[in-house]
Amino acid sequence: MKIPVKIRGMEFSVPNLTLTNDDMAKIVETSDEWIRQRTGIAERHVVSGEEDAVTLGISAVNKLLEKENIDAKTIDMIISATSAPQRPYPSVACEIQSAIGADNASAFDLVAACSGFLYAMQMARANIASGFAKRILVLAADATSKFLDWTDRSSCVLFGDGAAATILEVSEDGEDDIIAMHLDADGKNKEFISLNIPNQNCPLAEPHQNPENLHIIMAGKDVYKFVMQKIPAVIEKTLEKANMTIDDIDYFIPHQANLRMIEALTTRIKIAPEKVLHNIEHYGNMSATSIPCVISEKIKSGELKTPSTVLLSAFGAGMTSAGAIIRLR
Ligand SMILES: CC(C)(COP(=O)(O)OP(=O)(O)OC[C@H]1O[C@@H](n2cnc3c(N)ncnc32)[C@H](O)[C@@H]1OP(=O)(O)O)[C@@H](O)C(=O)NCCC(=O)NCCS
Repeated sequence: MKIPVKIRGMEFSVPNLTLTNDDMAKIVETSDEWIRQRTGIAERHVVSGEEDAVTLGISAVNKLLEKENIDAKTIDMIISATSAPQRPYPSVACEIQSAIGADNASAFDLVAACSGFLYAMQMARANIASGFAKRILVLAADATSKFLDWTDRSSCVLFGDGAAATILEVSEDGEDDIIAMHLDADGKNKEFISLNIPNQNCPLAEPHQNPENLHIIMAGKDVYKFVMQKIPAVIEKTLEKANMTIDDIDYFIPHQANLRMIEALTTRIKIAPEKVLHNIEHYGNMSATSIPCVISEKIKSGELKTPSTVLLSAFGAGMTSAGAIIRLR
């Protein structure tokens, strides 16, 4: 028997430092007009000082636990969708486990870049459905700004930092909030977006050299074409799994990478523009945090009314992609 899952709360956190497009024009040859027209982005938040993926994650998780009145010791597992951590290990999830005192939880990071939150939701859903865990903290946390090439105007203007968190737990009333999930990966296109980390062979094998290209490298046009070709099919498969059509969807929240892509997808999948929610204007692309941040912010502002059936779609480095249909109560 499959155990149904409840989605409990959604909170997010962003750094205080905001960079406008005019700020970006101080470091690369660009303009507010170009960035707005080509991407829809007006500003983004970036970490400074001691902030990183861990501190952003702790802040989002603390807001969630307080709002939902959840004792951290009742959490069985922590999955952090993190692709730009300060260090590969200890994992962000383990850092958060100790910070919040979730002493009874296992903890690990999951790397699926901007699709990470949906991938992590599916891993949590499967662990709950199988009876292995009852309450799982799912979060997204990335400080992508630390890995950008701040001389590359075609990538550095696109991203922002942030974290978001939710709890998935056994649904006591039997209602399943995750109606359908579809995950996809296309490693053939792995070079479209990449991030190298420092690594060297033993000096007896090779003399050491200064590392280079240790920042995010992206083929923007290839990503754009990939998304336009791939995401409509991912959405179709997700709808099929839910036995639904696009008319059954109350809101569509796509990954927030580029407003032009969001508009093109809206037309392609034939959903009414008023059902499409975005906040890329104020945050840029926050990787796995983008989708839960839109959910949280739009519920708070009243633009996303509950109860509702919501279609989510994501894509990211890998290339990974994912679709989900969830019920927000
Ligand atoms: C990156 C992206 C915004 C570029 O937009 P575009 O309309 O495709 O622009 P192009 O790459 O054709 O570049 C057009 C010109 O603008 C220039 N340009 C690029 N970035 C610029 C910037 N920030 N400001 C001003 N000019 C810029 C280019 O150098 C190019 O100049 P050229 O014609 O003299 O060579 C767009 O391709 C995109 O959003 N792709 C998807 C990226 C993505 O989603 N990444 C995240 C995945 S999770």
